Amino acid sequence: MAEAQRIAFAPVVFQACRVLRESGILECVRNAGKPGMTVEEAARSAQLPRYGAKVLMEAGLGAGLFDIESGRFTLTPLGIVMLRDPMTRVNMDFVHDVCYRGLFDLDRSVREGRPVGLESHGGWSTVYEALSSLPEQVQRSWFAFDHYYSDRAFPAALPLVFGDRPRRLTDIGGNTGKWASLCAAHDSEVAITIVDLPQQLAFARETLNRRGLAGRVSLHACDLLDPQAALPVDQDVVWMSQFLDCFSEDQIVSILRRVRQALAPGGAMYILELFWDRQPNGTAAFCLQQTSLYFTCIANGNSQMYHSSDLHRCLAAAGMVVEREWDQVGQYHTLQKCRVS
Ligand SMILES: C[S@@+](CC[C@H](N)C(=O)[O-])C[C@H]1O[C@@H](n2cnc3c(N)ncnc32)[C@H](O)[C@@H]1O
Repeated sequence: MAEAQRIAFAPVVFQACRVLRESGILECVRNAGKPGMTVEEAARSAQLPRYGAKVLMEAGLGAGLFDIESGRFTLTPLGIVMLRDPMTRVNMDFVHDVCYRGLFDLDRSVREGRPVGLESHGGWSTVYEALSSLPEQVQRSWFAFDHYYSDRAFPAALPLVFGDRPRRLTDIGGNTGKWASLCAAHDSEVAITIVDLPQQLAFARETLNRRGLAGRVSLHACDLLDPQAALPVDQDVVWMSQFLDCFSEDQIVSILRRVRQALAPGGAMYILELFWDRQPNGTAAFCLQQTSLYFTCIANGNSQMYHSSDLHRCLAAAGMVVEREWDQVGQYHTLQKCRVS
């Protein structure tokens, strides 16, 4: 029953916690240390009206962020996590800036099979084509969410992918060029191509120029939703990180078939993904299961964070097999090395 009421009020609790953090109240109470702070003191420190500070702090008390004694509030361990934990911040900012308004239309998105919630950001058919035109704060939260997870997995994946010393590597969905930059720094001879939508390649170009790597990496503009769109051929490695979750199962099969054509004889395809059945704990699985609804409502209306068996099915349909798999690469990712079957 208690859990059900937490869910019933979840959007209210979410906003209360976020505003407590953003307004500086959590920081003020944290700085006050042991004796804690009254509502009046917190309101003064955070420069908020007493009424607003009072209702927020009482909501935070109910949510478990504060303890109270003789009218003085102190932060609980949960309050400290809310204030300091980077993953919580990244997830909350993403939910607020990218998803919150659009999620109101989840029911229509499910029924219509399109991201109705994306209308809250303008008239686009997928978030990927919209990204470079979205307000700065929305972009910042989107990239922070995307990078938070892949940044931790890339260094662990790098030696596994370079074990066979690939000479030609394509990074599909290369985004801001982070993986390509790591590859270029890791191996001075590998020729790298980033494949992505033209709007996104502008971000990659900026990163590569800044790092002096523009001469090492080719950019190949391409919309993989177009079934005729071909990939650079004769590749020793085709790499896809947090990419296939952007597509429906049918679209994945179509992309994998084209990757198959792009591989040199003996070449390997590496998939770095977050599967909800391969997580080290229930909380991580929960986060991925909820993230799926961002894809439903905002991203494209037809993809998700997959179960590993979904992807195995797509691989089989495309004539590919997993040769080797590593779980918990970084912390939450699975790396799959695949070959033509
Ligand atoms: C979730 S991001 C992953 C970025 C990066 N690989 C990482 O691991 O952090 C997905 C990437 O796929 C690209 N993408 C999405 N749809 C695409 C399409 N139809 N054709 C080509 N690229 C696409 C996006 O622009 C974005 O850069």
